[in-house]
Amino acid sequence: MNAQTPTVRPPIAMLAELTHRCPLSCPYCSNPVQLALTETELSTEEWCDVFRQAADLGVLQLHLSGGEPASRRDLEELVKAARDAGLYTNLITSGIGLSERRLKALDEAGLDHIQLSLQGTTPEMADEIGGYKGGFKRKMQVAEWIGAIGFPLTLNAVLHRRNLHQLPRALEMAGEMGARRIEVATVQFHGWALKNRDTLMPTMEQAREADRVVTEARTRLKGTLVIDYVPADYHSDYPKRCMGGWGTTGLNIAPDGKVLPCHAAETIPHLQFDTVRERPLRDIWYEGSAFNAYRGTDWMQEPCKSCERATVDFGGCRCQAMALSGDAAATDPVCIKSPHHGELQARAAAHASHEGSDLVYRTAPGKPVPEPAE
Ligand code: SF4
Ligand code: FES
Repeated sequence: MNAQTPTVRPPIAMLAELTHRCPLSCPYCSNPVQLALTETELSTEEWCDVFRQAADLGVLQLHLSGGEPASRRDLEELVKAARDAGLYTNLITSGIGLSERRLKALDEAGLDHIQLSLQGTTPEMADEIGGYKGGFKRKMQVAEWIGAIGFPLTLNAVLHRRNLHQLPRALEMAGEMGARRIEVATVQFHGWALKNRDTLMPTMEQAREADRVVTEARTRLKGTLVIDYVPADYHSDYPKRCMGGWGTTGLNIAPDGKVLPCHAAETIPHLQFDTVRERPLRDIWYEGSAFNAYRGTDWMQEPCKSCERATVDFGGCRCQAMALSGDAAATDPVCIKSPHHGELQARAAAHASHEGSDLVYRTAPGKPVPEPAE
C-alpha cells in the first residue's frame, strides 16, 4: 500500500467523458488531440457499472461530458443508472442533439442539472467558434426548453481574445435564461487550444478588463447569479489549484474507460493509466500510479517544496508545467517564482499581439490532426 494512502480521501466529483464524438469542433476543445475512437467507447453496461463503483467509492457528483454526451443514444439510460446509484447528475452539453422530447426524457430519468456551453453571444461569433452553422439558434431553442422544464442551469461561457468583449452580454444572457450560475472560463491552453494560441490568447488589457467586469458583476448580481471565474492564467502571478490538487477531489473517465487524474493527463508521457476494464475504480483511485504521481506535496521540487503556498495551489497545473517547461514536476510557469515565468509572460505577450491565423478546429475521432499554418 502506498505510504500516502491513509490520508487520501475519496473523490467528490467524477467527470465521465461518454464519447469524444461532437457536432461542434471548437478550436479550444479540452479533449485530447488524439481522440478516442467510437468503437472503443465503454458500453452502456460498462458505464452503469462505473457509476455504481463511483458511488461506492464516495463520489457525490457526476458530470456527464464529452465530446457531446447527447451523441450517445443511451444517454437517458445512463442518467437513470447514475441516479439509481445515488449520484447527483450534471449534463455538460452544447445543446446540439437535444430535442424537447429528449430533454423531457432526461428529466424523467432524474437528471439534476444542465451546464450549457456558450461559444459566443451572437450567431456569427458562436457559429464561427463552434464550427457549426446554425448552432447558436439551436442552442437558444434548447435553452428555452431547459427553462420550461425547469432544470437548474449553469451557463458556461468560454472566453478568449476573439470574444472577451462579449462577456457583459454573456452575463446578461445568463440572467435572461434563468441560469443560477455562470462559469466565465478563459480558455486554458492545453491540447487543441495550444494549436490556436496566436489567435485565442487574450491581451493583458482584456484579462484586466475581464477581472473588472467579473468583480463588478459579482457585487451587482449577488444573490441572483453565482459567477465562477477562471481567469487568463498566462497573465496571472500565481497558478490555479488545478483539479483542486492532483488526485484530491476529482477524477475523469475517458470514453474508452481510461481513468485520468485530469482531462489533459495523457499529455504527461511517462504516466501509465489504468482502465476500468481491467481494474476496480477504488484501486485505481487509491493505488494507481498515475494518481499517486503528483498527489500531496512529496513530489515537489523547489521553489514549490518550501513555498508557503504549497498546499494552497499544489504547484499549479502539472499538465501546464509539462507543456511549458518539459517537466511535469516543475513549478507551473504561471507562478511568479518559476524560473520560466518571465519567458512565459513574453510568450503570452507575443501570442496576444500576433495578428492571428486561421483557427485549427478540432477534428472528429479517427481523422488526421491538423497543424497550425506557419
Ligand atoms: Fe504555488 Fe509552487 Fe508558486 Fe509556491 S512556488 S506559489 S507552491 S506554484
Ligand atoms: Fe492536468 Fe491541470 S490540466 S493538472
